[in-house]
Amino acid sequence: MKGVVLAGGLGTRLLPLTKVTNKHLLPVHDRPMIYYPIQTLVNAGINEIMLVTGGNNAGDFLKLLGNGKEFGLRHLDYTYQEGEGGIADALRLAEYFSDGELICVMLGDNIIERNIRRATQAFREQKVGAKILLKNVKDPQRFGVPVLEGDRVIKIEEKPKQPRSPYAVTGIYFYDARVFSIIKTLKPSGRGELEITDVNNAYLEAGQLTWDILDGWWTDAGTIESLHRANQLVAQTGANKVDVKREAQEDVTR
Ligand code: DAU
Repeated sequence: MKGVVLAGGLGTRLLPLTKVTNKHLLPVHDRPMIYYPIQTLVNAGINEIMLVTGGNNAGDFLKLLGNGKEFGLRHLDYTYQEGEGGIADALRLAEYFSDGELICVMLGDNIIERNIRRATQAFREQKVGAKILLKNVKDPQRFGVPVLEGDRVIKIEEKPKQPRSPYAVTGIYFYDARVFSIIKTLKPSGRGELEITDVNNAYLEAGQLTWDILDGWWTDAGTIESLHRANQLVAQTGANKVDVKREAQEDVTR
């Protein structure tokens, strides 16, 4: 499985912090934001990774990350998104890199406490379709929200004013290679973007979307409030802990 980290977009919700730099280069406690999603993929055993970036500061990612040596990687791939066409528009650029393999896509402003190893293994076994990870949150209206019937997701609504469940669709997605043909059929949404929620709904309609609940805390860091929260959570409890022994034990008892 290959990994794709999406770090394009203009980060306008964080202005003026993002006036002269890219959102994903801002600090979250002791590391730049972009370190967290890369570490999450590496901790899941994914070591072929492409970073999609954009805006005025793309060169800074290369300066910061190089070939990913700090993460134990031999190589990092980069590509550049023109403009801010949406998450699915950024993902489109990873088609050549993914080369027909399964991919795990992570949004560059998502930070998790623990790991996605179980979900990654489950998707390797699933082989086709897509998988999303859900998290119970206090403010689902800020996110993609699943509508559930029993334990079946029947629809995902993007930032609904009246959320029909207390869950957010987190920014960690697993896809097979069909994702790129789905993206080609998408039309821009009301906010002028190609929406990842439309991609997930296409898999849902085909009966090929599975879901899981993410372990540990999860946050985005794309607004002043959530960036502050991310700083606090990482400072208090750490993130991407590599406590292999404890996690191996928990995997067995689950
Ligand atoms: O954080 C999870 C949420 O992320 C999901 O629940 C939503 O369904 C999904 O639409 C998304 O919502 P946001 O509106 O918060 O996404 P945002 O525009 O902040 O973009 C999140 C990341 O995606 C950003 O850090 C970089 C990447 N991105 C975004 C856009 C718009 C790109 O690479 N290119 C883009 O054009």
